[in-house]
Amino acid sequence: MAKTALITGASSGIGREIARNLYAKGFRCILCARREDRLAELAQELGENTRIVVSDLSKKEDCFSLYEQVKDEKIGVLINGAGFGLFGKFCETELETELKMIDTNITAVHILTKLFLKDFIARDSGYIMNIASSAGLMSGGPYMSTYYATKAYVADFTSAVARELAEQGSRVHVCALCPGPVDTEFNEVAGCSFGVRAISAKECSDTAVKGMFSGKTIIVPSATLKFVSVGSRLIPRNLLVAMTGKVQSKKGEL
Ligand SMILES: NC(=O)c1ccc[n+]([C@@H]2O[C@H](COP(=O)([O-])OP(=O)(O)OC[C@H]3O[C@@H](n4cnc5c(N)ncnc54)[C@H](OP(=O)(O)O)[C@@H]3O)[C@@H](O)[C@H]2O)c1
Repeated sequence: MAKTALITGASSGIGREIARNLYAKGFRCILCARREDRLAELAQELGENTRIVVSDLSKKEDCFSLYEQVKDEKIGVLINGAGFGLFGKFCETELETELKMIDTNITAVHILTKLFLKDFIARDSGYIMNIASSAGLMSGGPYMSTYYATKAYVADFTSAVARELAEQGSRVHVCALCPGPVDTEFNEVAGCSFGVRAISAKECSDTAVKGMFSGKTIIVPSATLKFVSVGSRLIPRNLLVAMTGKVQSKKGEL
């Protein structure tokens, strides 16, 4: 039987490319997002065996229901890719959108990691990739404050769980993908534009999948961003936040 991968955020961008990559490696894919037409289109491209599950992962009940619908399909890889950002001054951005962001970017990742990890540990195999961001490695991002904080949660939580697994001698692998700008629908949804060159979703996904299967915990898929994230650890926190804010402020109208 083919190995099965569950990919959330598979209707677009990085998630869609990761699904294509895993399919090419022989995985049967289960694709999850809200836009059914997009999932159906990708399922048709990938072949008959592909399954789609339409879920709004900002709702806890959809996260639990997703798990219930696929838990018996021997998932070997879970990609937690669904997520979005929002640009603007914190005092002006919509509270409702931010609460949905926290639910999608943090709570859904937390619930799905917890549920699938227990099954993976029982089998002593499996891979979980949580899509964080290089934003999560930067100590805070003015004008995208909630987004940066959600991604810091994902990066920190994933590193800690990965360490626990390593200390238990587990063969289950958990990692966080921390890209810089990637050319997807992210900007359109967040209401901003990148100030620096973005890599393609394919380049990001290829590096991500390679990093995951080679056992990396934090995957930063571009040399420049790798340099920035390592270099940023040497900069005092207040200064780093101010520098990040300068870059962020150029991404749109404030
Ligand atoms: N693009 C970048 O520069 C960049 C950089 C670092 C990290 N990331 C992260 O990468 C991940 C993928 O983003 P992307 O760049 O590929 O953007 P994208 O093209 O906008 O894709 C976002 C995906 O998340 C899904 N999604 C959003 N809200 C959802 C919800 N409530 N329930 C279920 N699915 C939901 C979307 O599907 P539906 O709309 O069909 O539900 C879509 O498939 C995100 O976590 C993002 O934060 C992106």
